[in-house]
Amino acid sequence: MITGLSHVSIVVPSLDAAAKRLKEVYGLNVGEASVNEEQGVRLAYVELRNARIELMEPSHPDSPVSKFLERNPAGGIHHFCLNVDSVDATSGEIAGKGARILGEGRIQRNVRGERIAFVHPKDFLGALVEIEEREKP
Ligand code: CO
Repeated sequence: MITGLSHVSIVVPSLDAAAKRLKEVYGLNVGEASVNEEQGVRLAYVELRNARIELMEPSHPDSPVSKFLERNPAGGIHHFCLNVDSVDATSGEIAGKGARILGEGRIQRNVRGERIAFVHPKDFLGALVEIEEREKP
């Protein structure tokens, strides 16, 4: 069951430059960066009242997000993420209705250890969607 919006994720050429701009122009504070080696990204978050903005830069040159930057050199929205009560139950339910879960349906973990999965963009109106299991707030 989908329970809310977790974050919108933006790929940027430079996390430091992005953080500086968000601070200077919008007064937004970007938290500490951390690396997810499995996904080849360095990430940082802006905490908003009801959701987050996720910023990602490649952590190595052959990162999957490097290809995104080749197509979008200035960066851009990469995916958005919905909270679900259970990744297993939700991915099972939507897969049963024909939606494809990326990575052969393998459940992954984000930098905070929460269980996540990605839905094929063609199965969500053209947008790449992450689903993220959220412990009770
Ligand atoms: Co994300």
